[in-house]
Amino acid sequence: MTRIVIVSNRVGPLTDTGRAGGLAVALVDVLRERGGLWFGWSGEVSEDGTYSPLRLYEDGNVSTATIDVAQADYDEFYAGYSNRALWPTLHYRLDLTDFDRRLEEGYRRVNERFASRLVPLLRPDDIVWVHDYHFFFLGETLRAAGVENPIGFFLHIPFPVPEVLTALPNHKDIVKAMLAYDLVGFQTSQHLSGFERYLLEEVDGERLEDGSIAAMDRRVVADAFPIGIDGEAFSTFHETTEGRENFTLMRSELETRKQIVGVDRIDYSKGLPERFEAFERLLELYPEHKGEVSLLQIAPPSRSEVRAYTQIQRLLEGLSGRINGRFSDLDWTPIHFITRSFPRRALAGIYRASAVGLVTPLRDGMNLVAKEYIAAQDPEDPGVLVLSRFAGAAEEMREALIVNPYSIDELAEALRRAIQMPLEERKERWTALNAKVMTNTASNWSRRFLDRLVEIHTPAEADG
Ligand code: UDP
Ligand code: G6P
Repeated sequence: MTRIVIVSNRVGPLTDTGRAGGLAVALVDVLRERGGLWFGWSGEVSEDGTYSPLRLYEDGNVSTATIDVAQADYDEFYAGYSNRALWPTLHYRLDLTDFDRRLEEGYRRVNERFASRLVPLLRPDDIVWVHDYHFFFLGETLRAAGVENPIGFFLHIPFPVPEVLTALPNHKDIVKAMLAYDLVGFQTSQHLSGFERYLLEEVDGERLEDGSIAAMDRRVVADAFPIGIDGEAFSTFHETTEGRENFTLMRSELETRKQIVGVDRIDYSKGLPERFEAFERLLELYPEHKGEVSLLQIAPPSRSEVRAYTQIQRLLEGLSGRINGRFSDLDWTPIHFITRSFPRRALAGIYRASAVGLVTPLRDGMNLVAKEYIAAQDPEDPGVLVLSRFAGAAEEMREALIVNPYSIDELAEALRRAIQMPLEERKERWTALNAKVMTNTASNWSRRFLDRLVEIHTPAEADG
């Protein structure tokens, strides 16, 4: 029997504890259904670091095997190259990118160490699936160690146009490492086209008849595999104890009012300051909404060891304080800014009680919150999704109100339209969106990727 081995930096938790992050959420859904091994970081920093004993855990058909990292690894690999160089560049923020080449060495070292710890765990008929920007070099190292299993790679975040990627000093090494995988998957056709353009224009690659691309003495198949959620399960979360409690609490608070909801890790890619300003603009332009509409922003802090993250949190605290000071009344506060995380079951109740779901990243690989908001709605009285054109989700979810998140005016007008949208139009848009969320599930996503990986894998051609 083939076994799926998933590799990602974040592993689990397997239960709904409210750790924020789309990658782990999607992979839990996949592993629960298919079973398999999940290998990655334990979340711990220790003296032994990547030489620490394996931490093994089993829950039903899913096993996890994790290792620690050392403080230097954490600083250079996780807080360093991954989140100070790759994340900002891949999200089009060269102004926030740290170009210090020393960070890259730590990144490579940790990729190699994780690969060498994985090798003894692998069985000959395993299918290996590596996830996200933390592990671009892992596949190349596995191949160099003689691993012949099918190895696929999926990038959860955007892949930018070559004009942006080439600002990274080692862009060629990264892309060459991606070619060591049999199959490379992206969230959208736009990200795929950034990758293909790089290969064809930057390194004189050639598209072969079978659709694969040959470049830098290697050959790769690349495609778009937009990720989904377990829509059926999510649509019932509001019936769980946590879902019901939160729904009831919100509804009693909101008896005669409407709520706009946002749920995002505190990240500069999520467009949060623009969102607060757009809500302020709405209240300025249309004062009749004062006392009638509020914005609930759930925003768990993320990557606080990276300065850009603490800065954006401070900015948001200042902005929400200023807007609340300006507009609050004795019985109404315009912005509820909550900097902690909630379990997804609780979020389901909150989404369902909210008339508008506001998802306005400046760049985002996909954005699962957009899909969760839709899955949680009451079909008889659904809310409206306002969605940034720069979220990967916008490629599929055309029936949302699609906005340019940089334009505060456009955002404010979209909010106004969403709040006032007649029931019939809300139902029409929601029905179309919900059909997509229910069809393109996490399970279908993984099946499409893994079937394709097995289909194209030919050990003799695995490396170049
Ligand atoms: N999430 C959560 N609790 C929170 C905030 C977020 O469980 O308090 C989950 C949310 O339900 C979603 C994921 O974290 O499944 C965020 O994924 P998304 O793709 O929207 O953004 P990412 O954090 O991956 O950039
Ligand atoms: C995004 C990334 C994931 C990451 C998650 C949370 O979803 O694509 O790889 O795990 O954010 O970020 P963190 O740094 O806490 O793992």
